[in-house]
Amino acid sequence: MISKQTIDKIFSAVRVEEIIGEYVQLKRAGSNFKGLSPFHDEKSPSFVVSPSKQIWKDFSSGKGGTAISFLMEIENFTYPEALKHAAKKYGIEIEEDKRELTEEQKQAQTDKELLYKIHEIANDFFQHQLFETEEGTTIAYSYFKERELRDDIIKKFQLGYSPEQRNAFTEFALNKGYSKEILEKSGLSIFPENAPNGIDRFRERVLFPIHSFSGRVLGFGARILKNNVKTAKYLNSPETEIYHKSSVLYGLSQGKQSISKNNLCLLVEGYMDVIALHQSGIENVVASSGTALTVDQIKLIKRLTENVTILFDGDPAGIKASFRSIDLLLAEEMNIRILLFPDGDDPDSFSRKHPQEYVENFIKTKANDFIDFKAEILLKEAGDDPIKKAEAIRNIVKSVAFVKNALKQEVYLKEVATKFGISEQSLFNELNVQKQIQNQNFSPQQRAEPQERPKMEIVPPTIISVNPLLELEEKLVKHMLNFGDRILEKSDADNQPFKITVIEEIISHFNEDNYEPQSPVNRKIIEELKNGLANNEIIQSNFFLTLMDETIVSKVSGAILGDDELSNWEKSNIFPPKPGDKLEAEIEDDILIHKSHFIEKMIYDIVKKLDSVGDENPEEYYELVKKIMILKSLLSEINKKLNRQLTKGHSFFREQKL
Ligand code: UTP
Ligand code: MN
Repeated sequence: MISKQTIDKIFSAVRVEEIIGEYVQLKRAGSNFKGLSPFHDEKSPSFVVSPSKQIWKDFSSGKGGTAISFLMEIENFTYPEALKHAAKKYGIEIEEDKRELTEEQKQAQTDKELLYKIHEIANDFFQHQLFETEEGTTIAYSYFKERELRDDIIKKFQLGYSPEQRNAFTEFALNKGYSKEILEKSGLSIFPENAPNGIDRFRERVLFPIHSFSGRVLGFGARILKNNVKTAKYLNSPETEIYHKSSVLYGLSQGKQSISKNNLCLLVEGYMDVIALHQSGIENVVASSGTALTVDQIKLIKRLTENVTILFDGDPAGIKASFRSIDLLLAEEMNIRILLFPDGDDPDSFSRKHPQEYVENFIKTKANDFIDFKAEILLKEAGDDPIKKAEAIRNIVKSVAFVKNALKQEVYLKEVATKFGISEQSLFNELNVQKQIQNQNFSPQQRAEPQERPKMEIVPPTIISVNPLLELEEKLVKHMLNFGDRILEKSDADNQPFKITVIEEIISHFNEDNYEPQSPVNRKIIEELKNGLANNEIIQSNFFLTLMDETIVSKVSGAILGDDELSNWEKSNIFPPKPGDKLEAEIEDDILIHKSHFIEKMIYDIVKKLDSVGDENPEEYYELVKKIMILKSLLSEINKKLNRQLTKGHSFFREQKL
């Protein structure tokens, strides 16, 4: 368990905008940052990060919280995992609470955590083999040198070597106390019947660790050293509980910042392409190593940029892969350019032949849009054959049909029309045919991923709640979270002035009426605030943000990041009062309004009861009617205070005939 001191240290060091900035392109918006929600597709940014409050809120899903809860959301981390990740980033040493670090604790760790741990250990082991052993330096290190890799790049990508001895790593891990079962699950070892000591999956190969977005090792790619051997050139980790190859991109962890900064992602085919480009100073690059590009992978890229340039080999396999990737990327609304390398070059060999600037310029000027790219290849194939030529055009229109944005579609079609001298009308007809075919069959992403998650219809929570009592309750809780320790100047019944904090004022109002909070989250929050008061403490919203209760964290961060964060009033020269400007009056009113709704609800409840009591029990009936009378006179007093008329219509007895 992580010690309380360490947790505090982490919370005070972490900058929410820095953590989130690694996943979301953030733009300044007043005192906040705004960006596209990383949790679902959206066109206009509804994701807000507040550096001053150190919280974030996703207005489209209602989620929100601290930097730590963001990491939990986006990486699927547990709370300790997220803390550790943040600690690592900020160079904070984790102090374990030793009292609780027992054997049981170890067992309680999930398989997943163990698998991460094993991969970390394996990664260290393989790097050690590469640099520190004779076999490693003479065989593997020299191989990397032959491929002209610099030491800093070898270290940056944490390249390693797995030696010839058939169970070198397995033995090492078993000695460290890892079980056969978990080693087998990790995919790093196998335990056939005839080899009870286990066998390493990767032997006599150089290793390329594959990292998650946030930099944890999930698996490995392993390359054989001699090209002439008949076995597969690369062996990769199998699917495990932590490695799902269709949703991982090689190089993303090392390249994410550059991708976001350049607002462009280069997509290459191989591990070595990624590494070589980094070595030449081009870092915004990923590879879909070993698999055809998937929708999940595109979504990873889309968190950082909508622009992709495909850099593939010019061989038939590369062309085929690029054609498929084009449709997928278009369907995900990405902007794409494509560049095939000439004369048997791939990005690796090309970038070693030329200086960075040349390579950058080459990519910038030689990459085509997808129409030119497809046209060039398909027309070359078609030659003078008019039927093949028509087929080529149809093929291009097919890609255009994957574009979702109608305006873009039209621009693309115009381009095709001009390029081939064909009327726009007939292209539009063809486009509609292609769209119908796509609807009947499957779109490319459906082929790759049959169950696309249904889009959530998101309604802002305030519209859902038509319960005015709950609305006011929310308001009062918000006041306590935002201004809990502010002092209100009040006067008592004898007109004597006294001071009271916002929390005390509102809690005493709740206590006075024995009020039961309407929502469970509010109940928890109010409970904590009351406990605090009982200990002479004014609990601040930060307290709730460090709790592990996700609903509370989300609620509190939502409450302290107002609903208005999205509307830029100042831009339209409208200056609404800031929350808290006239706090005293506001709170007094809200308490009264809350009280009046509460009384209305009580009356409503009694009226309902009246119906069931009926004439059978006249005494009880009379008692109830009396109660109603009292409540109603109370209500009219409050409403007088509030300077309002008692208006039916927005009250609880909307449908009652009182
Ligand atoms: P390449 O054959 O283009 O390999 O495969 P490469 O990356 O250029 O490797 P070098 O330059 O020969 O060292 C491209 C990618 O396809 C996957 C790997 O991810 C590789 O990087 N691949 C290839 C495999 O998974 N298994 C294989 O047997 C071959
Ligand atoms: Mn290569």
